[in-house]
Amino acid sequence: MPNVPPLNIPADAAIAQPSFLMGVATASYQIEGAADEDGRLQSIWDTYCDEPGRVLNGDHGDVACDHYHRWEADTDLIASLGVDAYRMSIAWPRVMDEKGRPNAKGIAFYKHLLDRLNAKGIQTYVTLYHWDLPQHLQDRGGWASRETAYAFADYADLMTRELAGKVTAWATLNEPWCSAFLGYGIGRHAPGVTDLRQTTQALHHLLLGHGLALAKIKANDPKAKRGIVCNTGVFGPRHDTAADKDATYLAYVQQNYWVFDPLMLGSYPQDLFRLWPGCEPLVLPGDMDTIATPMDFLGINYYFRTEIESDGKGGYQEAPHDNPVERTQMGWEIYPQGLTEILVDFNARYPDMPPVFITENGMASDDSVGADGGVADPQRITFLERHLMAVNTAMAAGVDVRGYFIWSLMDNFEWAYGYERRFGITHVDYTTQVRTLKHSGLAVQGYLQARKQRPQR
Ligand code: FCB
Repeated sequence: MPNVPPLNIPADAAIAQPSFLMGVATASYQIEGAADEDGRLQSIWDTYCDEPGRVLNGDHGDVACDHYHRWEADTDLIASLGVDAYRMSIAWPRVMDEKGRPNAKGIAFYKHLLDRLNAKGIQTYVTLYHWDLPQHLQDRGGWASRETAYAFADYADLMTRELAGKVTAWATLNEPWCSAFLGYGIGRHAPGVTDLRQTTQALHHLLLGHGLALAKIKANDPKAKRGIVCNTGVFGPRHDTAADKDATYLAYVQQNYWVFDPLMLGSYPQDLFRLWPGCEPLVLPGDMDTIATPMDFLGINYYFRTEIESDGKGGYQEAPHDNPVERTQMGWEIYPQGLTEILVDFNARYPDMPPVFITENGMASDDSVGADGGVADPQRITFLERHLMAVNTAMAAGVDVRGYFIWSLMDNFEWAYGYERRFGITHVDYTTQVRTLKHSGLAVQGYLQARKQRPQR
């Protein structure tokens, strides 16, 4: 075993206390594989991967990390890290048939997995929808159709009845911005549509489905926490000009407030329609109240900062990546203080914001197993340290943050980038399916061990 020091976090930091939840995260389509097994239906990501040119190297999720067959060993791996919690998602196409009837085999998979996690004392944070919509619903319009919001509520109803008592916290959706904008706006994600009118309508139906699902969770599993997971962006103007500053503001509106305002304030930010005139969604009476249903927690995902400039037409665009900043394999700028900024901004903008969990944070690097059998990923270690400390700073500024999940437990199918981009703290050899804790995984493990041994403050 290589000798890797634990994460360098001061023992007296708020985030270093045992009450601050530490976890690792994954999602169904990215790790499970077993695409045709036990009655699993086709998802929009299966379809998208089959379309030439959509995913880097023609990769797809048919096998992925083969977690569907390796879940017992993977659970042991999670436990070995010493984390408090595991965030995972359920594949909707695995647990319901086309008529909405339960698929007992698919449901059994999640029951066994959750039982094993619970038996090991690991809290379970379960996302109902991490982007793998059943294809038969897409064939009827997908999220652009209001029917999908009701179908999602039925699915949430079924899962929260079946899995009640096994789940610590339910998140309805993962990153609805990505489902709507990447999926329906620019076609970089399944279903690959490029239509802004459908984009705002899709987001509205996603959020409506979220609100309807919250009621089901409350009815069926009242002791579990209820929330949602949303991505955030941090932006800065390229030039100190009024045009670039306004462009930056519009980036915040589009990436953050478009999603968080309806959830927290019950309304869409009207400046969104400066960007996308005529794209107001159809909103029926009562929808905004449903969407703004109070929650127990807000899950925030944060990865990077983007430099913005005016596009000269009243909109914004990403500035060229020619500034000398530190970047990851994704080309994403490493900007830890962005996490503090976003948390402080939300805390002021949303007076009723519930307690926050950082439900995803992490980075991709081109990691491989070295001659000594170890996987050296030094950038990830300091990335995690710096972002954890950024959370600590936000907490010192008064933001109620309760925990932090590393994306990801292991390398996996990174959507349009396939298997090339490795986000794990565990390396996965996709030929042999061998898992190897990277140096970052060992640093996390060492940190959590030391944290457990310390007397509580
Ligand atoms: C987020 C997704 C997650 C993963 C990370 C890198 O947008 O929620 O599945 O792909 O990005």
